[in-house]
Amino acid sequence: MSKVLILPGDGIGPEIVAQALKVIDYLNKNDNLAMDLAYGLVGGGAYDETGSPLPDATLAAARKSDSILLGAVGGYQWEGLQRDLRPERGLLGLRSELDLFANLRPALLHPQLAKASTLKAEVVSGLDLMIVRELVSGIYFGQPRGIEIRDGQRYGFNTAAYSEAEITRIAHCAFQIAQKRQKRLCSVDKANVLEVCELWREVLEAVGKDYADVELSHIYVDNAAMQLVKAPKQFDVIVTSNLFGDVLSDCAAMLTGSIGMLPSASLNADGFGMYEPIHGSAPDLAGQDIANPLATILSVAMMLRYSLNQVALAEKIEAAVDLVLQQGHRTKDIASTGETAVGTEAMGDLVVAALAD
Ligand code: IPM
Ligand code: MG
Repeated sequence: MSKVLILPGDGIGPEIVAQALKVIDYLNKNDNLAMDLAYGLVGGGAYDETGSPLPDATLAAARKSDSILLGAVGGYQWEGLQRDLRPERGLLGLRSELDLFANLRPALLHPQLAKASTLKAEVVSGLDLMIVRELVSGIYFGQPRGIEIRDGQRYGFNTAAYSEAEITRIAHCAFQIAQKRQKRLCSVDKANVLEVCELWREVLEAVGKDYADVELSHIYVDNAAMQLVKAPKQFDVIVTSNLFGDVLSDCAAMLTGSIGMLPSASLNADGFGMYEPIHGSAPDLAGQDIANPLATILSVAMMLRYSLNQVALAEKIEAAVDLVLQQGHRTKDIASTGETAVGTEAMGDLVVAALAD
């Protein structure tokens, strides 16, 4: 019996998570999944109800669970709040409190969707890359930070910092993932300008000595952005810092046709993980039954693979998603011109039907 904490969150979060729950429900009933679900509040909704975007009860429930499935957080109505009360703090707080330092963001192009990419089909078809993003340090969390008055004007500042230990552990994680794939690891930095990246590169080289079977390369982040749209298939595994990973993973996502397709895992050293679609809460789409639930459904597959050791069921979900795409079903974000789109609910039902196939 595995205990999973469900955090639907804000915006489209609840409706896409509801589709993932249909999949879990199906597997519980038909495939002996034995997943025991608990529910919690996070983000803007949590702030409205409890005054905090990460209530103590949620954190306590998270610590008692084997995994977390999260929808998304954020919305316009909370943008004016002071920073530590904003919905994003809920997400960042979970990452940091649970020490989920390794963020895995695969960008896999389902061949059926090559047409949906804004890039030429030949540039993206067959794309299968993995971004490993450091998630609990770097400029997102570095101190000092703030906005203060200096010389009579406001001054905003953050600190980009990594310890050797923080770089070492994400490096090991990335090398090990590369070992299970095509054994090519590309580290992205800005070592030509930033000292923090100079250290990053040195540590990557040192850790690389333990992984003689993996080919390590280094690339500056500006070039990485260019290469991702120019020739994305050159990459196997990319490892990078928190902020660079945030930017590059959105870019990589779009190569696959839609950010609505991509799941993610955020893992700590024990393999405990939080799983979420990489897209945000998309408040403009909320409540209209048009959001794509596939990234959330695929996040359940990732959870089964990386935290719950149920690889066969992970593959079963992935095969069901593939089948639904093969059958030609598309939500609005992945429909090409002329194709009719199905809604969020219908897409969830189609995946369940495909599981039964
Ligand atoms: C992501 C998101 C978050 C981030 C936001 C919502 C805080 O963009 O998961 O990529 O910047 O990490
Ligand atoms: Mg992001």
